[in-house]
Amino acid sequence: MVNVQIDTAKLKNMETKLNCKFSNDGVFVEMALDLHEYQEKLPSINSVSFGIYSGDLERVIKLVEKVNPNWCKYFTDTTTIFCGFINKEPVSFCIIPTTADSILSDDNLKIGGIACVGTVPEYRKRGIGLKMVDMATIYLKNLGYDIAYLHYTHLEKWYKKLGYETVARFSFI
Ligand SMILES: CC(C)(COP(=O)(O)OP(=O)(O)OC[C@H]1O[C@@H](n2cnc3c(N)ncnc32)[C@H](O)[C@@H]1OP(=O)(O)O)[C@@H](O)C(=O)NCCC(=O)NCCS
Repeated sequence: MVNVQIDTAKLKNMETKLNCKFSNDGVFVEMALDLHEYQEKLPSINSVSFGIYSGDLERVIKLVEKVNPNWCKYFTDTTTIFCGFINKEPVSFCIIPTTADSILSDDNLKIGGIACVGTVPEYRKRGIGLKMVDMATIYLKNLGYDIAYLHYTHLEKWYKKLGYETVARFSFI
């Protein structure tokens, strides 16, 4: 069980920024996972590898455009991009932001985020997306983070499969 405290100032700040309201019946969620005990959860997938993307930025941005054009601005030269690859080509991606956009109190915790999670439509439903999040979670653990954090998602059940827990719910006003 993840043991975290909500920072009410950060929560209010997020309500203002996103024009949303936290409530128990909210449809979007903030999720967190304690990394101390985390072990790789899912089996490897034939012909798919995972790791940091160090190739041409334009190549990955073309994929992001196909999945969610609003995310392209977050993929820059200084972003850590983590991918699933088939034949060295990225088919699934996420970013590891330098500071997690969290509502948790971080006084004694190192909190790492995973954001903008996508798989290009042709490669969906093969387990690549969730395995990539599994491996990105291990990546955060190996960097010494205490908590992995997912900001603003509607895929609660999907992330729960890895052990992520909902720390707050919200809806847009
Ligand atoms: C969400 C997203 C990343 C999932 O990517 P994916 O690579 O298809 O993910 P997975 O294959 O791991 O899981 C997707 C589903 O396929 C199922 N699946 C996994 N392996 C499968 C296989 N071999 N055969 C059939 N189905 C399979 C999973 O059970 C899962 O089902 P569920 O949604 O009912 O839990 C992708 O749909 C996407 O890019 N969506 C748009 C962007 C988005 O919403 N991102 C999330 C933001 S928080």
